[in-house]
Amino acid sequence: MFVSYHGHSVVKIVTDEQKTILIDPFITGNDLTDLDAEKLKIDVILLTHGHNDHVGDTVTLAKSNNALVVAPFELAEYLSWQGVNTHPMHIGGAKEFEFGVVKLTQAFHGSSYTNYETKEIIYTGMPAGILFTNGGKTIYHAGDTALFSDMKMIGERHIIDLAFLPIGDNFTMGPEDALTAAEWLQAKQIVPIHFNTFPVIQQDPYKFINLLPANNGRVLEVGEGIKL
Ligand code: NI
Ligand code: MN
Repeated sequence: MFVSYHGHSVVKIVTDEQKTILIDPFITGNDLTDLDAEKLKIDVILLTHGHNDHVGDTVTLAKSNNALVVAPFELAEYLSWQGVNTHPMHIGGAKEFEFGVVKLTQAFHGSSYTNYETKEIIYTGMPAGILFTNGGKTIYHAGDTALFSDMKMIGERHIIDLAFLPIGDNFTMGPEDALTAAEWLQAKQIVPIHFNTFPVIQQDPYKFINLLPANNGRVLEVGEGIKL
């Protein structure tokens, strides 16, 4: 599969079977992304949690592409009421789809969708991380999370070929905690995400990868990807 980064927490996967999967498709309002929501052709959307900077263009994209949205249960329910084809899952659960295996992991964060017009916050359950496996290769997208010691267990129980870790600080792990996460996960490659989108999450991703003792970090420029 080919896995590319598109700013903030947006990751695109194109499988060997030519299925296109988007994780956390925050496109409209994401000044860092190179994606154009109107031109995207996708099959699946995977969501880590309900925050607006992760759900992003999900409803529009899912409808225009007739794409399946896989999300934690409460978020999947909420999106299904907006006419989106959803598959609900929850933390610890794995499911083999025709496009690959999805397993949700825990994440220490919040999960809600904010409607700024009505000033309502809709609760969307627990936030998650995503383990995605296809063709014998596994990607871990940590979602938004603090450092948590069960990352050790995730690393022990899964061979992770590529891990996307937030480094922005303030809302998620900062670089220092992400270094420990990288150590615990033992992923073959580490790519930093969730930085520089907003002033409060400014970070230098090169500084972060240069501090990784295993020298296994890689900064993906927006639009750049890795063949697994
Ligand atoms: Ni969040
Ligand atoms: Mn976020």
